[in-house]
Amino acid sequence: MSNLIHSPRGRTGELTLSPRLAFLAGWVPQGTRLADIGTDHAYLPVWLDTHGRVSAAIAADLRPGPLQRARETGRLYGARHVDYRLCDGLADISADECDTIVIAGMGGENIAGILERAPWTADGRHTLLLEPHSRAEVLRGFLAENGYAIQREALIRDRGFLYPVMEVTAGEMSLSPGQIYCGAKLLHDPLGERYIIERIIQLQGVVAGKNKSADPKDRAHADQQRDLITELLAMREEWRHANGTGN
Ligand SMILES: C[S@@+](CC[C@H](N)C(=O)[O-])C[C@H]1O[C@@H](n2cnc3c(N)ncnc32)[C@H](O)[C@@H]1O
Repeated sequence: MSNLIHSPRGRTGELTLSPRLAFLAGWVPQGTRLADIGTDHAYLPVWLDTHGRVSAAIAADLRPGPLQRARETGRLYGARHVDYRLCDGLADISADECDTIVIAGMGGENIAGILERAPWTADGRHTLLLEPHSRAEVLRGFLAENGYAIQREALIRDRGFLYPVMEVTAGEMSLSPGQIYCGAKLLHDPLGERYIIERIIQLQGVVAGKNKSADPKDRAHADQQRDLITELLAMREEWRHANGTGN
């Protein structure tokens, strides 16, 4: 995935982040020790390092190709405090090495799996910045059941797609099915209504598919999804009311 606005092949000037990564950068606390998991080109840690925003950064990826690209970005832009690490999730990163962990640009199931294999991320000493590209509901459900709390959430539009960004710490939270699906902190987000509508449309597709099935399990699943759509329609009304666009 290209995150640069200009060509990443040669140093043509400043490293410019995409709107999605620029938003994430804005939530990284000043002076933190960062771990960026699934870094690919390492645009985020290299930008943060070269702008004096982090004291240290680990740029980690599962595969050698992306890690090679990460090193190349660091070399091109003169990153000085980035440690490049080939590892699966947080497997070779210790709790004492970082304060802030970014996991962005992967599916919600993959992000949940990475956190599940590193339970120290819920020890109360770490801030997680998570941006699932898909299945955000799997991630929110995992967080609610495993000792994490979403402190804030926002929606970013990048290349026509909406992405939820979550700041997560250790804590407790209880989410309804609709909040697991569409977030609990987006009532005042300008893109909140659009996000809910997109998710309703997705669910309507699922219901239409299940309705064609003769299997009673599929019909029961369709009923559950219809209940979820009803809750999402109510959440949409709540958003409209809160934002002065309702009746
Ligand atoms: C689409 S890129 C996202 C790059 C960047 N984080 C962003 O948001 O633009 C996903 C990267 O995650 C890496 N990845 C996938 N699963 C991983 C895992 N379990 N541990 C570390 N990296 C992983 C992939 O190799 C790939 O480079």
